[in-house]
Amino acid sequence: MKEKLQKIREKAIAEIESSQGMERLNEVRSAILGKKGELTAVLKGMKDVAPEDRPKVGQWVNEAREAIENRLAEKMKKLEAEALRRKYESEKIDVTMPAKLHAAGKLHPVTQVRNQLVDIFGSMGFDVYEGTEIETDFYNFTALNIPRDHPARDMQDTFYLSPEFLLRTQTSAGQIHVMEEKKPPIKIISPGKVFRSDDDATHSPMFCQMEGLVVDKGITLCDLKGILDVFVQKIFGENTTTRLRPSYFPFTEPSVEVDVSCFQCGGKGCKLCKGTGWIEVLGAGVVNTKVLRDCGIDTDVYSGFAFGIGMDRIAMLKYGINNIKLLFESDLRVLDQIDD
Ligand code: PHE
Repeated sequence: MKEKLQKIREKAIAEIESSQGMERLNEVRSAILGKKGELTAVLKGMKDVAPEDRPKVGQWVNEAREAIENRLAEKMKKLEAEALRRKYESEKIDVTMPAKLHAAGKLHPVTQVRNQLVDIFGSMGFDVYEGTEIETDFYNFTALNIPRDHPARDMQDTFYLSPEFLLRTQTSAGQIHVMEEKKPPIKIISPGKVFRSDDDATHSPMFCQMEGLVVDKGITLCDLKGILDVFVQKIFGENTTTRLRPSYFPFTEPSVEVDVSCFQCGGKGCKLCKGTGWIEVLGAGVVNTKVLRDCGIDTDVYSGFAFGIGMDRIAMLKYGINNIKLLFESDLRVLDQIDD
């Protein structure tokens, strides 16, 4: 009997040791300790053992059972630890792996420029006035000292919607609305779309301007130059300066074209500035007293300056775009490259 029990014990332990998973381990357990298990069979056979031998045999059976159960518990622990290790291994995160790329949109280059301009002029105390894209002939031309038969109308080929209504050709139309609505001091910028029947590499039928208007006591051309110098330094770099050239606009007197020193070559002359060292960026001037008076402003007390910046032109210069169409064709291969 002792030998038989020893064999059962050895066999059980060997099987437990070679078990590869929980399932197999449970099979081994029931094959030995289950209802029909080998060791259970020995216990059931106790009635055939001589009564005086029963305590001894009972002790052997219990020893064998204890040993087998201990082994089973040990093996179970091992298998569980192994399973956990494998789970951790398979769920391991490689934090050095490159992240998945996901496409993020960005602002249109002209919107980027517009936001920069609004920030720059906003920091100098300018309010934003949003005009309308559809204007009347009066606000776009007549009130700006461009009556019906004025040759300056030819400078801006206009999309008329009716004899009275048109798509504004310049944000200057907003000047009149502001001066009608508000008493000086006035200090506004007005960014927005304008429209002209014009179409080549540097002109598009729709483009974007930003008007500036300051009306207060004692405003002169020097104030204009001072403000524009700050503006070009912030947008093109600290060493940039401006130069004013005489020009003509019916609603300013005197009128100027404003050039900025070439921010690419520093004024030595390059392809961008066509060898001149200067790049034209905007039109401006001292507000014509006739325009002020027609808006009910006392020109003995007040004077003003105005400027009109081509925002697409600034974007083209800043980001090295040589055809204005590239800005408005919505080709993401182009637009994606531009982010300030
Ligand atoms: N409105 C003018 C243009 O579109 C620019 C300008 C604005 C000139 C303000 C002088 C003052 O050409």
